[in-house]
Amino acid sequence: MENKEKARIIELPRIYDPRGNLTFVENTDGLMPFKIERVYWIYDVPAGEARGGHAHRQGQEILIALSGSLTVKLFDGRERSEFLLNRPFQGLYMPPGYWRTMDNFSSGSVLMVLSSVPYSEDDYIRDYDDFLSLKA
Ligand code: TYD
Repeated sequence: MENKEKARIIELPRIYDPRGNLTFVENTDGLMPFKIERVYWIYDVPAGEARGGHAHRQGQEILIALSGSLTVKLFDGRERSEFLLNRPFQGLYMPPGYWRTMDNFSSGSVLMVLSSVPYSEDDYIRDYDDFLSLKA
């Protein structure tokens, strides 16, 4: 399970407006590394809780902190990286093959995730030792 691409921040379009700013994504805009097949969001995370703790086999994702802030911790089998998400116009692009954990959710934070695949448990690697052996 080679990582052909690296996780990276994508700056999303911003329409500045004195009435309030606006950001959008479209499947057709050339910015998206994949076609969006699913959107989900995580909210009401109690203080001190962590989410994630798995990797995806095929699914690509873009993580956007719509509100508040959180930390995404990544491991590709060799390198560890960490991203602070705290702006609604920045998306963290995640290719498959990263073990990921999200923590340090601020009170009231909302994490939206755009996914390239419909939900399927078959796409998950939930056992860390399985992940390490797939990376070996
Ligand atoms: P999971 O992806 O493990 O959450 P996290 O990585 O944020 O900790 O998903 C938690 C549960 O929700 C699990 O039982 C699968 C279910 N789920 C869906 O039914 N559809 C979805 O789109 C997602 C992301 C999860």
